[in-house]
Amino acid sequence: MPYSAENRDGRGKSASGTFLGRTPESWAKILIFYTIFYATLVSLFAICMVTFLQQFINPRVPRLQQEYSVIGTSPGLGFRPLPEDVRSTLIYYKGTGYDSYSYWEKQLIEFLSVYKMKGQTAGAGANIFDCDFNKLPPHGKVCDVDVRDWAPCTEENHFSFHKSSPCIFLKLNRIYGWRPEFYNDTGHLPPDMPRELRTQIWNITNYNRNYANMVWVSCHGETPADRENIGPVRYLPYPGFPGYFYPYENAEGYLSPLVAVHFQKPKTGIVINVECRAWARNIVYNRKERLGVVHFELMVE
Ligand SMILES: *[C@@H]1O[C@H](CO)[C@@H](O)[C@H](O)[C@H]1NC(C)=O
Ligand SMILES: *[C@@H]1O[C@H](CO)[C@@H](O)[C@H](O)[C@H]1NC(C)=O
Repeated sequence: MPYSAENRDGRGKSASGTFLGRTPESWAKILIFYTIFYATLVSLFAICMVTFLQQFINPRVPRLQQEYSVIGTSPGLGFRPLPEDVRSTLIYYKGTGYDSYSYWEKQLIEFLSVYKMKGQTAGAGANIFDCDFNKLPPHGKVCDVDVRDWAPCTEENHFSFHKSSPCIFLKLNRIYGWRPEFYNDTGHLPPDMPRELRTQIWNITNYNRNYANMVWVSCHGETPADRENIGPVRYLPYPGFPGYFYPYENAEGYLSPLVAVHFQKPKTGIVINVECRAWARNIVYNRKERLGVVHFELMVE
């Protein structure tokens, strides 16, 4: 009994001037320590977040651009409509009945729907600037691609598939910030450029010098037989992608320019190997690696 009483007394004595077993001095030290500790922790976290958000996540601007990104600096060329089988590049249909080409027509309608919708999408339509070779869009504005104007390559006209003269659309893949280096000196066009394209370039630039600022496009048959079978080819609206669409900077509502290639009288009942090439000084051309060119086969029966 006396033992426990003494003990209690002892504790009571030593506890005088303390709070929960610590002296005010000790509490103050702990308080200072934790204040500094958490302040450091919070500021480190804040620094991390701010750096991360500012440097790494801008939804419109990719961090790795051009030569630093996996996409690279030379844009690829693509065609539409695409065959059902992803490994195939054959555009084949038989006859002039709707059933025979409806797959291709549906593919094109779907592909072009974004071009027709732009006016109705909030934000996108408001951004459209009336671009021209003499009137480049201001920063943040986008140029219109008026696919409705390209008769006979229009939806109403079944993209001319029903007349055994199909329209195939070409587009250049987007690379953020890429600026084409145009072949705009009509006196010094590359010697391997097809003669028809050179003639067209001279013709277009005669009309307006600024039209030379285009990423030119040409399609031709691969073998001598293909070149014979392909027939006359027209490009709408121009034989190239107008320069005012570049650079692509992910502005709201941006639409990639298109070229509709109208095969006016391809030989029927035979596979025609078609190669389309994009022409700019900074588009790498390598047939083997399929750079700067796109290949497809056309067969109309
Ligand atoms: C030709 O294109 C280059 C860009 O590749 C441009 O800097 C230059 O101004 C263009 N020349 C003309 C006459 O438009
Ligand atoms: C050259 O342009 C004129 C009109 O600008 C056109 O009628 C003619 O067919 C064009 N020639 C070629 C070869 O493109």
